[in-house]
Amino acid sequence: MKILGIETSCDETASSVIELAEDHNAPVTVLSSLVSSQVTLHQQYGGVVPHLAGLAHQQNIDPVVSKALEDAHFSYDDIDIIAVTSGPGLAPALRVGVQYAKEKAKEFKKPLVATNHLEGHIYSVCLHKELNIPSDITISFPALFLVVSGGHTELVMMKDHCQYESVGQTLDDAVGEAYDKVAKMLGLGYPGGPVVDKRALLGNPLAYEFPRPLLASKDYNFSFSGLKTAVLYKLRGQNQGAIRKGQEGEYTDEVVNDICASFQQAAVDVLVRKTVRAVKQYEVKTVGVVGGVSANRMLRESLGNALPAGIHYLIPQLKWTGDNAAMIALAGAHHWIKEKNKQKFWETHQTIDLRSSWPLNDL
Ligand code: KG4
Ligand code: ZN
Repeated sequence: MKILGIETSCDETASSVIELAEDHNAPVTVLSSLVSSQVTLHQQYGGVVPHLAGLAHQQNIDPVVSKALEDAHFSYDDIDIIAVTSGPGLAPALRVGVQYAKEKAKEFKKPLVATNHLEGHIYSVCLHKELNIPSDITISFPALFLVVSGGHTELVMMKDHCQYESVGQTLDDAVGEAYDKVAKMLGLGYPGGPVVDKRALLGNPLAYEFPRPLLASKDYNFSFSGLKTAVLYKLRGQNQGAIRKGQEGEYTDEVVNDICASFQQAAVDVLVRKTVRAVKQYEVKTVGVVGGVSANRMLRESLGNALPAGIHYLIPQLKWTGDNAAMIALAGAHHWIKEKNKQKFWETHQTIDLRSSWPLNDL
């Protein structure tokens, strides 16, 4: 079957066509994938401005979806299912994709699957890095996923396809948000993750001692707001003789690199140690790390090295760590395969709604 995916939950307008047989274990092929990023638009504000994101999605959606179909050499006649992200995310952004998908599903008489963005990130581990090459990566259950993005930090047990139970989550900031805020304090621009990651490689992770919040707590919750504040206080004492102008002052490259390295070390330590503890408690077969922050080299490597032997470790190809629509199409496909009452998806274009907040537990 051929699935058209549409994603507009934050600041990327994305569309993709994928193909797989109607079986949870079938190899999946990405035929096309387009991502139109709004990063330059939001950069000047230091973060995503929801209503501007909505306006940009409105401009981009039709060209992006049309190009995804064209690249796959398909028309709507060739498409079996449309999958669209209906949450979680920014309401003005989600609304554009959902509205568009609804209209197309109605016009071309296609079933429509309302897809969860976080579940899309989870299935991103199954995608091949090249287009047109089938991937046979499957998830063995039970699996534990660390979902780390700009809006979420969560440990989730996946018991079977499309079946989740949250094990723990952040009590305040998401880890990606903490990266973005630290970058802002240092004047490194938006989004902060990739540049803090690069700077961290040049710095000394032992230069500053930052807290590892909730590391000792017995649960699997996280907290990154205290770590962010610790960086802020440290910076207030560091702004002499400097060349880089940040929100809190001006700093030398050495200070910037050392702060990035020490902050990253603290954040990754907590993520890895809590994940490994959960792996041991829940006796899982597979562990994955997904979402925008899973592009982080140190996190990918440290978690891989810390896992007990015999665990199947899945990480998305770097190409699929950020928001994209191939992962949405694949999550939608698994819901289609799992659902006995297919009629439900023919009625979705009347019932589909946005869910700005949509925990994986509620799927
Ligand atoms: O999944 P995503 O693209 O969008 C959301 O669904 O939120 O995640 C974006 C987040 C941003 O906070 C960004 O700074 C972070 O992922 N990020 C990184 C890296 N690349 C992106 N964080 C740490 N290291 C990276 N290499
Ligand atoms: Zn995302």
